[in-house]
Amino acid sequence: MSIAKKEYKRITTKTLVDMKKKGEKISMLTAYDFTMAKIVDSAGIDVILVGDSASNVMAGHETTLPITLDQMIYHAASVVRAIERSLVVVDLPFGSYQSDPKEALRSAIRIMKESGGHAVKLEGGKEIKESVKRILNAGIPVMGHLGLTPQSIYKFGTYTVRAKEEEEADKLIEDALLLERIGCFAIVLEKVPAKLAQQVAEKISIPVIGIGAGNGVDGQVLVLHDMIGMTHEFNPRFLRRYLDLYTDMKNAFTQYSRDVKSGDFPNESEQY
Ligand code: KIV
Repeated sequence: MSIAKKEYKRITTKTLVDMKKKGEKISMLTAYDFTMAKIVDSAGIDVILVGDSASNVMAGHETTLPITLDQMIYHAASVVRAIERSLVVVDLPFGSYQSDPKEALRSAIRIMKESGGHAVKLEGGKEIKESVKRILNAGIPVMGHLGLTPQSIYKFGTYTVRAKEEEEADKLIEDALLLERIGCFAIVLEKVPAKLAQQVAEKISIPVIGIGAGNGVDGQVLVLHDMIGMTHEFNPRFLRRYLDLYTDMKNAFTQYSRDVKSGDFPNESEQY
């Protein structure tokens, strides 16, 4: 059991800010369903992100764009039913907040009411400032997301590292300061140079959770299916695989099929 797990019975947005103050790193993983979320929560992971990466790993879409608000609510409600300790953050999906602040607030309210999640995450900085403010004014905690923002993939045209040039790095720092100023409780920084990410983490008092952003930030997040090796074709440098479940599961399924076809399963002790 981690030190943090013993100390914090239930993770809140304030816990995360306190953890940053104390120099304690924050662990965050995605989850999209009850069974996985139960395991993640019981392992002492601080934050569960119901990410719109569900669009990729659960639904098989190429991008995060197709997933709907209803589908995000379904995933988030399943996760919330499983958790006892982790903070549950839910992504606002593409199209549910970009058009105007009122729509953004309506979407965030639906997530909070219908799923029971504890906070929402939105991608972007200055462009979505009014939406973030409106959501925060309604009492809903917001996590920001800067750097590589997959909902804008067709604008970027590629999933390569962001903010390598000074102009984009400066904008990212400005956006991080802005999100802190208006009241976000944390920021995800995706696929940016480690030095820049560390600079951001040092400049702001709210936690910076990195994915492909080096070790100088306040915590790390990975997509669950990637870190347990259920996906095997996605191999970015930042990904550490803790299991090779693709191979283990495939072997198990192959063996099961063999056992069924050979008549070996079920045996005497496996029937009534
Ligand atoms: O949707 C997601 O899984 C995310 C993480 C990559 C941070 O936003």
